[in-house]
Amino acid sequence: MDGLEKTIVESLERVAETAGDPTPAVYERLFERHPEMQPLFILDRNGSARGHMLSEALDCVLDFCTGDKYASNFIESEQMNHDGLGVPPDIFSTFLAIVVEVFKELLGTDWTAEMDTAWKDVLKGLEVAPPSAG
Ligand code: HEM
Repeated sequence: MDGLEKTIVESLERVAETAGDPTPAVYERLFERHPEMQPLFILDRNGSARGHMLSEALDCVLDFCTGDKYASNFIESEQMNHDGLGVPPDIFSTFLAIVVEVFKELLGTDWTAEMDTAWKDVLKGLEVAPPSAG
């Protein structure tokens, strides 16, 4: 495992240990920022699609750390599929930025500078970072 993957994995493990399943916190923040997205999940009564979607996104993050074998292509094609659901492509970068923001908050003082840099690198590398994040 190289440094980037190690740090990302460590942050994911820490989040799971500290806060359990981060899914509710991530979507709560997403719907706070983008209330217009909430009705799109109306059929996801038990939250399984939300959980699955987050885990696919995190799998993309891990794949990116090990050479981006599918992540960039998958995200690009999901952006097209989601467009049909009413999800504008640029919300993907917001979603990933919210994931990082929520993880950082959940870890509090356990969030390290290495984790911060690693996540910034991944978001930037996946080319879904919002312009303001550089
Ligand atoms: C890296 C980013 C993303 C990935 C990899 C991804 C992937 C997925 C996957 C795999 C599903 C199917 C889940 C299932 O049915 O079990 C899904 C469903 C969905 N996604 Fe995403 N997604 C991403 C970002 C987003 C964003 C930013 C939004 C909007 C805020 C969004 C809205 C939805 C909606 C509305 C569904 C359908 C939920 C349902 O079936 O009720 N996705 N996504």
